[in-house]
Amino acid sequence: MKTTISQAAKHKDQEVTIGAWLTNKRSSGKIAFLQLRDGTGFIQGVVVKNDVSEETFQLAKSLTQETSMYITGKIVEDTRSSFGYELQVSDIEVIQEAVDYPITPKDHGTEFLMDHRHLWLRSKKQHAVMKIRNEIIRSTYQFFNENDFVKIDPPILTGSSAEGTTELFHTKYFDEEAYLSQSGQLYMEAAAMAFGKVFSFGPTFRAEKSKTRRHLIEFWMIEPEMAFVDHEESLVIQENYVSYIAQSVLKNCKLELEVLGRDTTKLENIKAPFPRITYDDAIELLKEKGFDDIEWGEDFGAPHETAIAESFDKPVFIINYPAAIKAFYMKPHPERSDVVLCADLIAPEGYGEIIGGSQRIDDLALMQERYEQHGLTGPAYEWYLELSKYGSVPHSGFGLGLERTVAWLSGVEHVRETIPFPRLLNRLYP
Ligand code: 4AD
Ligand code: MG
Repeated sequence: MKTTISQAAKHKDQEVTIGAWLTNKRSSGKIAFLQLRDGTGFIQGVVVKNDVSEETFQLAKSLTQETSMYITGKIVEDTRSSFGYELQVSDIEVIQEAVDYPITPKDHGTEFLMDHRHLWLRSKKQHAVMKIRNEIIRSTYQFFNENDFVKIDPPILTGSSAEGTTELFHTKYFDEEAYLSQSGQLYMEAAAMAFGKVFSFGPTFRAEKSKTRRHLIEFWMIEPEMAFVDHEESLVIQENYVSYIAQSVLKNCKLELEVLGRDTTKLENIKAPFPRITYDDAIELLKEKGFDDIEWGEDFGAPHETAIAESFDKPVFIINYPAAIKAFYMKPHPERSDVVLCADLIAPEGYGEIIGGSQRIDDLALMQERYEQHGLTGPAYEWYLELSKYGSVPHSGFGLGLERTVAWLSGVEHVRETIPFPRLLNRLYP
């Protein structure tokens, strides 16, 4: 019967055929151990000389890395492997022999692996990271569906900018100028007024000249937006959401976390509520930690975020940043107009900001003032102003960066390994 490695447990003690690739092999005079993968998982095939034809045994010993095949055998329990099963091979039918596969089991440099990303994705580690990414996406949809959010898809080609104009990707839109979306937020605000609670999941683009382990040029964002929800209420949804995806990964990605050597005790603790610290207190904390030259009004960089996160064993919300360093749409604090009702959620262990969010301005006069300050004119922005005019209500939303979240939960160092085909400052291929 034809099956997959992921279904092995259901076929214990049965003979099955699996379409697979060879990842590695070890053999002696009487036995060959084949490391096999089929995309759904990894399993060891054992070929015993006395149990198969001489031809099959010689074939098993000569198989090269990434050769594709149909392999037949009995699924048996194997308590020594973390997967729990192995395949007692009886027959092998090669589909295509792979010659000189470039990524060998030895160590390769990062640039070499990135150049071969189309092949590197097959490796056990990359497979584990992508499965965790998939689990975060799956549990994201589950969380928002269970909480009555409607999935809404904002456009990718836009005429407006939510997060400032310095990092926009420009493109021609027939005779007009367009940008690739850097955030779907403005459209999600329109959608929240139509559907109450909405979320989006899609690619966003930032022409950022940053070459750090946290920055991608193209990354995926989850952007919920909620009508009749204030900043405090939004923080509760954020911490519940992040706890939910962390616990889902812990529960459903045990093998993957093991492959990655992730310290899971650090993730078990990721349960709401999360601590909150004001921007003002964060400045004080940084000064205590020896950042002598940080001044009130400055934005935090990666070293600052890491230092703040070190004081907490869960993600921490930094709330109420200075208005001057945040986006035009954020609602001022009711008692202090110099700060806004916003929060960045900083992941533990140096992974940095994973969420940026805020309560939005819902007052027409104030929004008009912001339009003037920021020079927002023309048809690309007129429609957004109308949202403050026709039945405006308190509303809040946030954006979670998928790749930084994958990096944190997987425990991988750099976001380039958290997206199938990363777009980086110096990389558009493969
Ligand atoms: O903080 P940001 O810029 O917030 C927004 O875009 C809001 N409009 C979202 C909203 O309220 N709907 O970006 C949100 C998150 C960041 O916290 C970070 O996790 C991620 O997006 N992010 C990046 N991830 C990878 N590479 C980059 N260059 C990123 N820039 C932001
Ligand atoms: Mg931000």
